[in-house]
Amino acid sequence: MKIIIGSEQEIAKKAAQQYVDLLAKKPDAVLGGATGSTPLGLYAELVKLNKEGVISFKDVKTFNLDEYVGLDGSHDQSYRYFMNKNLFEQVDIDLANTHVPSGIDTENCAAYDDEIKAAGGVDLQLLGIGVDGHIGFNEPGTPWDSITHVVELEQNTREVNSRFFEKLEDVPTHAVTMGIKTVMNARAIILMAIGKSKAEIVKAFIEGPVTEAVPASILQLHPFVTVYLDEEAAALLSK
Ligand code: PGA
Repeated sequence: MKIIIGSEQEIAKKAAQQYVDLLAKKPDAVLGGATGSTPLGLYAELVKLNKEGVISFKDVKTFNLDEYVGLDGSHDQSYRYFMNKNLFEQVDIDLANTHVPSGIDTENCAAYDDEIKAAGGVDLQLLGIGVDGHIGFNEPGTPWDSITHVVELEQNTREVNSRFFEKLEDVPTHAVTMGIKTVMNARAIILMAIGKSKAEIVKAFIEGPVTEAVPASILQLHPFVTVYLDEEAAALLSK
């Protein structure tokens, strides 16, 4: 794993440069998207670079990691809504080329993996990390060979995410998420983490054992992972 540490702004810029480089080589790349607070700086940077004409998403396809079960794309806490607002509607992407798992029609959600394959596979997958080590909504204990599936959210995850909802009871109890295998199939991966609440889990997934108890630890086995950390998230790293 390549580890890059800097201020929140620096890492957003450096991560954005990875997209610039990829799209220069492969304008029709397939990008794996993530939601949450962490990617907002990166998305703002990508919007800026798009407006400046440095990058174009005209031929790009995207596949997002996850979605809440029960929320459709018009719900302001759905991840489809988040992506439209924070990235897709602000760049020159064709919305028809953007994919977020359906939170409504979840019965055949494993077909999402087939759609990704049919699009040529993900070239660059973006990830945040939960304080419990989850990637996407793959909570601790998720099998390494999992593909897109429905999960019951941990109480702690619902509590952490309740900041975006009026009250805890409004946070969906289930989500649909790419599996660990789906994520590991990506040709390259970026994981970003910001803030001191992530410091312990950052140390655990980078320096600790590869274990299903820490879903992000599987990334130690992927050949092309770049981890972007702000100083607070990196504070407990020993090496
Ligand atoms: P955050 O979420 O970016 O809002 O911290 C990350 C995650 O839970 O994967």
